[in-house]
Amino acid sequence: MQIAIDNLISNAIKYSNKEPSINISVKDNRKKIIINISDNGVGIPQQYQKKIFNKFFRIDLNYMPNVKGTGLGLYWTKEIIKQHYGSISVHSEGLNKGSTFTIELPAAKTKEE
Ligand SMILES: Nc1ncnc2c1ncn2[C@@H]1O[C@H](COP(=O)(O)OP(=O)(O)OP(=O)(O)O)[C@@H](O)[C@H]1O
Ligand SMILES: [Mg+2]
Repeated sequence: MQIAIDNLISNAIKYSNKEPSINISVKDNRKKIIINISDNGVGIPQQYQKKIFNKFFRIDLNYMPNVKGTGLGLYWTKEIIKQHYGSISVHSEGLNKGSTFTIELPAAKTKEE
């Protein structure tokens, strides 16, 4: 899970053309643990929001900061979260509107449950 979170934070820093600002919140509603990682970066156009989790997929548009990558970070992040019976999704209003990645994990049962 540390690798997964590290990937999301490093993307939030990489895909920004200004001083990055990153917000991380964790909520536990007893059934689920919900982690939100929001940035103020370049954002992700709607048509790419599903594709970015595919192996080797990178968005190659001219507004993108000129940073190197393999396109594997989010693929592995999704695989790791799946191994923990969780899910990951992304929301972005579009260009330069930032992105929010949401991880949902099932909460562990307590002894009484
Ligand atoms: N926070 C983000 N804001 C905007 N675009 C993003 C963000 N995170 C990922 N992306 C886009 O999704 C693509 C895939 O991300 P992913 O982390 O899988 O690969 P990468 O960052 O290119 O390479 P790697 O993580 O392997 O170094 C990125 O190339 C980028 O275009
Ligand atoms: Mg990455």
